[in-house]
Amino acid sequence: MGGLIGGPRTVLPMTHSASFDSLTLRRTLGAFTTGVTVVTLVDDAGRWQGLTVNSFNSVSLNPPLILWSLGLGTPGFEAFQNAERFVVNILAADQVAVSQRFATSIADKFAGIPVRRGLGGAPLLEGCVAALECCTETLYPGGDHIIFIGRVERLHHDPERPPLLYYQGRYREIGQVVQEEAE
Ligand SMILES: Cc1cc2nc3c(=O)[nH]c(=O)nc-3n(C[C@H](O)[C@H](O)[C@H](O)COP(=O)(O)O)c2cc1C
Repeated sequence: MGGLIGGPRTVLPMTHSASFDSLTLRRTLGAFTTGVTVVTLVDDAGRWQGLTVNSFNSVSLNPPLILWSLGLGTPGFEAFQNAERFVVNILAADQVAVSQRFATSIADKFAGIPVRRGLGGAPLLEGCVAALECCTETLYPGGDHIIFIGRVERLHHDPERPPLLYYQGRYREIGQVVQEEAE
């Protein structure tokens, strides 16, 4: 295969213009159902930081890589950009309030939230479906966001807990199974 990607590459010419407005784009992207995560870390001053994120996805199994993206205007942006490690906490269906808390810019997002310390002291939120302890592998520019690639170092998973879902701007729970387990 020619031209294996070794670094970020711009495919579209800079003059490319969209035929839709950003509200239409948001609504269309909202048709893609996601889980909800809170990305947490310890900043350079030793303070805990956290942000609700649904741009999380898997990238690679070997090496184990994941991604998420962060808006350039996000309060505390620098702390995330500088962090050597972070935790992706995958929220459970009963954690809507946790998601809302970490999606606002209140002073102490962690007040009253049960937490235990992971690698490097990074906070793991209690009660989640899963948590991935990552070190920051690569940062890529992505328009008005920056894309984080993280290398997963340690996993936690409670398969008994149902996950929180996000669809068309609203929180949901898993509904019907439309196909029984594949053979
Ligand atoms: C369900 C949900 C998913 C979100 N996903 C992301 C995301 O992937 N990346 C991001 O930068 N902000 C995301 N946000 C927004 C941030 O959590 C936060 O609300 C935003 O940075 C505004 O914070 P502010 O109120 O402090 O300005 C999401 C918010 C919600 C509610």
